[in-house]
Amino acid sequence: MKTILVTGGAGFIGSNYILYMLKKYADIRLINLDKLTYAGNLENLRSIEGDERHIFVQGDILDKTLVSGLFKTYQPTAVVNFAAESHVDRSIENPGIFAETNIMGTINLLSCARAAWETADGSYPAEVKFLQVSTDEVYGSLGETGFFTEETPLCPHSPYSASKTSADLFVMAWHDTYGLPVNITRCSNNYGPYQFPEKLIPLMIHNATNKKNLPVYGNGLNVRDWLYVEDHCKAIDMVLENGRNGEVYNVGGHNERTNIAIVKKVIALVQQKVDPTVTESLITYVTDRKGHDLRYGIDPEKIRRELGWQPDTPFEEGIELTIDWYLNNGDWLHNVTSGGYMAYYDKMYKNR
Ligand code: NAD
Ligand code: DAU
Repeated sequence: MKTILVTGGAGFIGSNYILYMLKKYADIRLINLDKLTYAGNLENLRSIEGDERHIFVQGDILDKTLVSGLFKTYQPTAVVNFAAESHVDRSIENPGIFAETNIMGTINLLSCARAAWETADGSYPAEVKFLQVSTDEVYGSLGETGFFTEETPLCPHSPYSASKTSADLFVMAWHDTYGLPVNITRCSNNYGPYQFPEKLIPLMIHNATNKKNLPVYGNGLNVRDWLYVEDHCKAIDMVLENGRNGEVYNVGGHNERTNIAIVKKVIALVQQKVDPTVTESLITYVTDRKGHDLRYGIDPEKIRRELGWQPDTPFEEGIELTIDWYLNNGDWLHNVTSGGYMAYYDKMYKNR
């Protein structure tokens, strides 16, 4: 039986990964270490309550005693590190916590993994691997043309992407210096169930269904490359199983859209499915994000060629699945948007 230490498994992508893995593999054990910040939510994992293959531990990836204790108790042969502060806007307001969690937290996980796995002669068992879940934002911004490949120079702009880039460099340092077996995945924008409604798509769904303004940054012409979250989970699984040691794999499905096109798509679906009076008049152009990257676009050729990965869910299908999920899970949305969320929302959008 394979045991994986999954960090951040109560967040958006982490919880989707846990559900994906438990569905796919009968003989597996997932140790889920999550601090349960505002973005972590055990409701995401309600459908697997009582499943003994999933062991949840509330805690911080920065906690050395806790993390090394988990290695001793459960002897995982893989780490998949999702745990992070993940929201660019929050990183602009409060960069310090991004350095702590995303950089120092990753360093702590690397140290604990090395301490647990390195043998007396400095080698590692064949089955162990540290997989860092990274982002295309480490490459910075594209102009009108071209794509990010794994050879694109690292050029992050936001405090969030600077912290993720730094973490990637530490992961490679542990590989190059101590021989730790590693992979890094760099994925484009994800969307799907359980995404916290500070991110573009769920925020627009939440606002449109409540007939609130839809705040579009700048002119709305920035481009993101959207991938359904389950396709990202599939890529991580494939890289963990068969990725070549020390390699980076970009993950994306060639699905670039301007932000305004995404917002209009959400409006059209909400109008059709829930309320015919929801219209584009809700769109409100607001002050742009500081340092706003113009365009992201992934070249996924390496992961396709080496591992046979390709996305299964076209955007038209994925966005409908996503909207249906939010419409059918009003309680989830209500629970995460009460309390602290409104204070955050007012701070970000009230005077913008
Ligand atoms: P998220 O914000 O939804 O979830 C992050 C999770 O990490 C939460 O459950 C939170 O409680 C947990 N966490 C935060 N700090 C922690 C700490 N110190 N110790 C333990 N747990 C902690 O994020 P997400 O969107 O699911 O992203 C997951 C990972 O994927 C991140 O590393 C992010 O950089 C990366 N990524 C995200 C996207 C995207 O579009 N969302 C795309 C590419 C890569
Ligand atoms: O590219 C991968 C990255 O995608 C991940 O590494 C990050 O963790 C994830 O948050 C996401 O970052 P973005 O900044 O691209 O996502 P966000 O949903 O915050 O914004 C998407 C685009 O929409 C971006 O151009 C800003 C714009 N936007 C966002 C919000 C929240 C708006 O116009 N209005 C909004 O209210």
